[in-house]
Amino acid sequence: MFDLTGETAIVTGGARGLGRAMADGLAERGASVALFDVIDGTEACEQIAGACGVQARFYEVDVTDEARIEEAVGQVVEDFGPIDILLNNAGIYYPTPVVETSREDWQRILDVDLNGYFLMAKYVIPRMPDGGRIINIASIAGHSAFEQSAAYCVAKGGVIELTKSLAYEFGDRGIRVNAICPGTFTTDMTAEMLEGTEFIATIKREIPLNRPGRPEELKGLAIYLASDASSYMTGSIIDIDGGWTCHV
Ligand SMILES: NC(=O)c1ccc[n+]([C@@H]2O[C@H](COP(=O)([O-])OP(=O)(O)OC[C@H]3O[C@@H](n4cnc5c(N)ncnc54)[C@H](O)[C@@H]3O)[C@@H](O)[C@H]2O)c1
Repeated sequence: MFDLTGETAIVTGGARGLGRAMADGLAERGASVALFDVIDGTEACEQIAGACGVQARFYEVDVTDEARIEEAVGQVVEDFGPIDILLNNAGIYYPTPVVETSREDWQRILDVDLNGYFLMAKYVIPRMPDGGRIINIASIAGHSAFEQSAAYCVAKGGVIELTKSLAYEFGDRGIRVNAICPGTFTTDMTAEMLEGTEFIATIKREIPLNRPGRPEELKGLAIYLASDASSYMTGSIIDIDGGWTCHV
């Protein structure tokens, strides 16, 4: 039921962090993986191929570059065949108060965190067989406001609506599209925040499980959504946040 043997997955932002952990998870279940990233993912691919005995290949792709996305997606099809799974994960985050946010910074966050997901879907869906799966990494910030995070919240809220729209539009092809909303996980993105005693205090106070998530704790949900185990799920938005948003 959780088997992905012989399938091909593209993971954006797969060179490190949550993307890397989820790429590991898909590969452990037998999927070949294509990592799209702006940082070098060659070593990650060597480790994945060595550990899981699947094909893993790195493609240098900036998800804001439409021409490069089109080219790289075509290359993946040549290298691997049709794309069964798209895991949209590449993202950026930097906290700033709205009145101090430049238009360029606002636009950059929307370009990477939302428009990049749209562009990837646009070019992958035509190369996906019926029954393909898309997993979008949103955030609990996509449905709840967080301090100094307006652009990020808007982008992630957009990812949630994009997920529902794609699920609606491509359901008749059996393409299932779901979103994961992580709370706080320990990655490079959150490292600085997690060094602050104030944020640690917030975590202890607000998160019932009293700690941030570990990247590998996302693997199970990614495998579930990528596999037949979730065959009747589409358009669903799933929190994985140690219970942060289960209380107000
Ligand atoms: N870590 C958390 O607590 C957390 C919480 C909620 C949601 N998320 C989301 O999870 C995803 C992964 O975050 P992470 O914590 O692993 O961060 P990270 O910074 O560790 O990893 C992000 C990856 O995306 C890549 N990337 C950035 N811009 C890119 C671009 N333009 N094109 C291609 N690749 C690009 C980076 O090089 C990096 O490999 C993001 O979408 C983030 O918003 C993270």
